[in-house]
Order: sequence, then C-alpha cells, then structure tokens
Amino acid sequence: MADQLSESHISATAVAVAYFRHVESGRADALISDKLAWPLVEATGLGPDLLRLPEENVRRVIDGIAVRTRYIDEAVEDAVAAGIRQIVIVASGLDARAFRLDLPPDTTVFDIDLEPVQELKRMVIEDHPRAKLWQPVVADLKQDWVAALREAAFDASIPALWICEGILYYLTEDESERLMRSITAASVPGSRISGDHRGKGTLLPGQHQVVAKRVADAGYEFQSIVDDPTIWLAEHGWASDSVTTVREHALRHGRDLGYDEQRGSEIGWLYTAHR
Ligand SMILES: C[S@@+](CC[C@H](N)C(=O)[O-])C[C@H]1O[C@@H](n2cnc3c(N)ncnc32)[C@H](O)[C@@H]1O
Repeated sequence: MADQLSESHISATAVAVAYFRHVESGRADALISDKLAWPLVEATGLGPDLLRLPEENVRRVIDGIAVRTRYIDEAVEDAVAAGIRQIVIVASGLDARAFRLDLPPDTTVFDIDLEPVQELKRMVIEDHPRAKLWQPVVADLKQDWVAALREAAFDASIPALWICEGILYYLTEDESERLMRSITAASVPGSRISGDHRGKGTLLPGQHQVVAKRVADAGYEFQSIVDDPTIWLAEHGWASDSVTTVREHALRHGRDLGYDEQRGSEIGWLYTAHR
C-alpha cells in the first residue's frame, strides 16, 4: 500500500482510523477490541500520525472513533440476531469486523474498497481462521460498484445490513446521494443501514473545525454534511430506528468528548434504519 499510496490519498484515512481503534483497544475500559488494527496499520508502512492533530484533539478523536465503532458493532450484532447474514461494509478500509466480531459461520461480510486497501488486507489476514466469512470487493464507489458486489455473490433478493462508516462526507453531495440511491435499490424490505455522517457543527469554530482543517490540510477535505439524518434517510426510503450524535452516545458510555454541541449544529451523526 505504501508503494501505491501517498499520505494524501483518501485510502490513507483508513490507516488513521485503524490506528485509533488500536489505541482504544489497549485501554482497560476499551469499548472495542481490534487486535488486527495494528498489524494492518504496520503493514501499510505509513506512519499512524497522519493528521498531526494537537494532543487534546487526538484524545477526543480516539474516543469518537471508539464510540462510533461500538455503535456500529452493536448494529451488526442486532442485525445478525434478527437473522441477517449479509453485511456490506461500504468503504471498509482496514476495518476487521469479519474477524473480530463473533458472527455466525454462515454470515458473509462484503468489504468494499479500492484495490490497494484490499490487497493489503488480503496479505495480512487471508490465513485468519475466520477468513471464509470475509468477501473483499474491489470497487470504486463513484462507479458501478453494485455490479462488482453482485459478482462477489451478494444476493439482492434477501436482506442485508449496509454500513456506511467514515465515507459519506468524503464524497460530494451528488456522489453520496448516488451511493445512497444504489444502496436502496439493492435493498429488499427487512434490510438495514447503519453508519455515520457529519452535521453543520463540523465547520463551526472549536474542536471539529480544528479536525476539519487538519483533514483538509492532509488532502481529504470533508465535502458534504447532512442536516437531519431522519429526514435524509426517509427521503431514501429508510425508517430510522436510532439517530444520535457521537457526543451524545459517548456520554452514554461515560465519556465526555469535551465540546459543546447545539441542536441544529450537530457535529457527528450516528444512525441505524431499516427498509
Ligand atoms: C475514513 S476511511 C474509513 C474506513 C472504515 N470504514 C473505517 O471506519 O475504518 C475511508 C475509506 O473510504 C475508502 N474510499 C474512499 N473513496 C472511495 C471510493 N471512491 N471507492 C471505494 N472506496 C473509497 C478509502 O479507501 C478508505 O478506506
């Protein structure tokens, strides 16, 4: 991956996020456990400190990633408990849910991402005992990725759980709307979706303006936000089961992210919905 990617390539964001999962996993009160995060980060050859954030912001970002990961892990566990056996992780990066969650053996986790990311993951984890649950799909989400997903044996006639984590705001509004329309078109009733998005507060002065600026300086600027996930999901034909913010959800886990967030200028959204 290091041969093909510069730190400013969008796929390098996956390295930063995996590094944050690794740091969280080492805490005594960790919300998640991701033992593959470090081997994957190390194999990229890219330094983990891509964003060069000030110390205070790093701690908050790690807490935020931990809370987001845990929220989506729970959406996966709920979907599996309800009988869903197809999980599609859109822009999966170095995420390792197929390996680190205790999923039934007849589950398939379709990880969609660009070639260098998939190649690296294959190198590090293909011999893992749970590798048969893992179905990497090499595709560009700005092109006809659904065809690639079907070729990988995704069955659009049965329900799936879709995960959009750490991707929508790196796309323009048009691109992210197109992505959502494609997901919806491939989702029969009973399907679910869970993920995150950014709200207006991302660009206000304070914690997240610092983060947004560092992200932009590193070469992967946030390009879109959503004002109200419940409305946005409904417009795409999804009924919300849970809409919250990263800050609110962190408080439920006893973690104070230490910044203000006003209604109408939310910073990071988390959502789960169904068809
Ligand atoms: C911030 S990372 C998030 C990764 C993962 N979901 C996580 O939370 O760890 C963004 C990911 O989106 C992927 N990505 C960005 N644009 C993409 C595109 N057009 N097609 C496929 N993947 C893309 C990158 O390669 C990267 O792995």
